[in-house]
Amino acid sequence: AKPVTVPQLAAMKQRGEKIACLTAYDAGFARVMDEAGVDLILVGDSLGMVIQGHDTTLPVTLDHMAYHSAAVSRACRRALVIADLPFMTYATPDQAAAGAARLIQEGGARMVKLEGGRSRIAAVRHLTEQGVPVCAHLGLLPQSVLRLGGYKVQGVTEKDAERLIEDASLLEEAGASLLVLECIPATLAAEISAQLTIPTIGIGAGPGCDGQVLVLHDMLGLNPRMPRFCRDFLRDGGSIAGAITAYATAVRDGSFPAAEHSY
Ligand code: KIV
Ligand code: NA
Repeated sequence: AKPVTVPQLAAMKQRGEKIACLTAYDAGFARVMDEAGVDLILVGDSLGMVIQGHDTTLPVTLDHMAYHSAAVSRACRRALVIADLPFMTYATPDQAAAGAARLIQEGGARMVKLEGGRSRIAAVRHLTEQGVPVCAHLGLLPQSVLRLGGYKVQGVTEKDAERLIEDASLLEEAGASLLVLECIPATLAAEISAQLTIPTIGIGAGPGCDGQVLVLHDMLGLNPRMPRFCRDFLRDGGSIAGAITAYATAVRDGSFPAAEHSY
């Protein structure tokens, strides 16, 4: 199979084909995902929680991200690998560029992700100008958990929803190639997805997004406090490969997420 490219993702959105994404942190799982036809593999800084056992993503460093990205990238023939820029590694555009260089050159990533809206425009523009594809991330921002005071649904008030809609447009204008929407009402995510040309990838953001992402450990039922927006695909899939294939199929045919997974 030929590698998935950034322009192909926009073309998928235009054709109404859903984009399937999962997180991975090592070569073993990444290989199964790649062979199952998962389009995007996100080396998320969620590894701070599911791999390292921390309560937040804040302790994750660029060294950690480069190490796990390299392991994942080695296993991928087709899937496009996205790596998270960790907490406090993109406070300035120059710092973002230095971090992206490591994730791409050492980690083998083909896109980098960062969290935030209007405050990140300069970094997104700078990375884009240097030829680095950027995935933005709005809604629940786990790297802002100290300020937020916990992990909860975002964009609920009209004012917050308006701000998210504006931020999404600003990120697209600045050159972002993808936008993750995390834990926002399904109606708001659908509105943002319709307004943008770039694809949106939802997690806890309802079926109106152009694609979906789940944390690997959650969709395998390993999270003792399973989030509402997740489904245990291992239970029905019967094996790791079966679970991953069932997930990709459910995203593509629109049966996941259902209303019960949405806010
Ligand atoms: O780190 C991660 O796994 C993520 C996804 C939840 C989008 O950022
Ligand atoms: Na992340």
